Amino acid sequence: MVVPDGLEGVVVTNTAISEIDGKLGILTYRGRPIGDLVGECRWDDLLPFLTGFAPEGAVDPVAHRVVEGDPMARLAQLLLTLPFDEEQPLRFIKTVALSLAATLNRAPDPGTGSAAGRYLTMLCGRHATPDEIHALDAYWVMAAEHSLNASTFAVRVAASTGARLPMALVAGVAALSGPLHGGAPTAVLELLRAAEEAADIRGLLAERLNRGERLMGFGHRVYRTTDPRAEALRRIYQRLESDSAMVQLAMEVESQALALLRERHPNRVLATNVEFYAGALLAALRISPDWCPATFAAARMAGWTAHYVEQRRGGRLIRPLARYVPESR
Ligand code: ACO
Repeated sequence: MVVPDGLEGVVVTNTAISEIDGKLGILTYRGRPIGDLVGECRWDDLLPFLTGFAPEGAVDPVAHRVVEGDPMARLAQLLLTLPFDEEQPLRFIKTVALSLAATLNRAPDPGTGSAAGRYLTMLCGRHATPDEIHALDAYWVMAAEHSLNASTFAVRVAASTGARLPMALVAGVAALSGPLHGGAPTAVLELLRAAEEAADIRGLLAERLNRGERLMGFGHRVYRTTDPRAEALRRIYQRLESDSAMVQLAMEVESQALALLRERHPNRVLATNVEFYAGALLAALRISPDWCPATFAAARMAGWTAHYVEQRRGGRLIRPLARYVPESR
């Protein structure tokens, strides 16, 4: 059997958690279109819906831990060191997310409200407005799950060996840390900053493509049309930043980038993906670029946990083969 490079188009498991229609640009969580959930429910409420665990009532604690390194490394350390109770997996992931923000130690935990609101307040060291909290919750709902992407596959591989949940989540963090997956919003911010300074946006983008660079926030392995999450995030971003020149700039960069990508890749649809407006939205929320991947990962722990549970319930050990091809001398 010849398997395509990057496993493109290969189905390796069944799942009831989410479904992507890459041609039509539709994403559903357990049968519900993402558009019905974004802005309508909080990330906290999504957790039981996605994972099947009963909601855990009491306020989730924050652990103040001194952990070193970049935010993704901190997230991995918290996963490995915070106490894990098998009976309360949802409380564990919420505590990890909140404790991650607390590693910046800028502001005390407000103690009430949604996990996204508490996260934002602690991370940015200021009381977030209801609109800002609503926007981060919407982003977290959108970032919570996306079928068998690279990091979720890594979690399922770890789960298939019988690894405990925190260890499997660390596998997800590792896979998401790469620039082609969770690192894109940081690069989008850099692109928007460069565009702010540039006299000619099309020229700036063309120059990057001529150097063989990728335009971050565009292209996707599965979508052959605009990522529905990008559409939803664009609306949330526009609402939050209605007066800002950055919105106009982001839309201009998006339209010039799409035009250039169409010209250079006429046979492959390279459309806007979720990370383009994620980068812009997180900047509007004043989350610093180095915290973008970890903020995404905190939200994605929801989907990883759902896949962990599904894999443990029915899945066999994941153990494919490699064909031995000696190096030519
Ligand atoms: N900018 C410029 N060219 C691109 C881009 C891009 N963003 N994306 C794909 N291409 C080109 C490739 O250079 C390649 O061209 P070639 O055939 O002439 O060599 C062609 O399109 C196909 O690209 P692949 O890498 O084969 O596509 P793949 O499905 O493997 O990659 C990926 C998908 C990694 C998302 C890619 O589109 C990319 O690198 N995008 C930029 C990074 C990004 O935005 N990542 C976030 C994705 S969403 C997420 O992970 C949550």
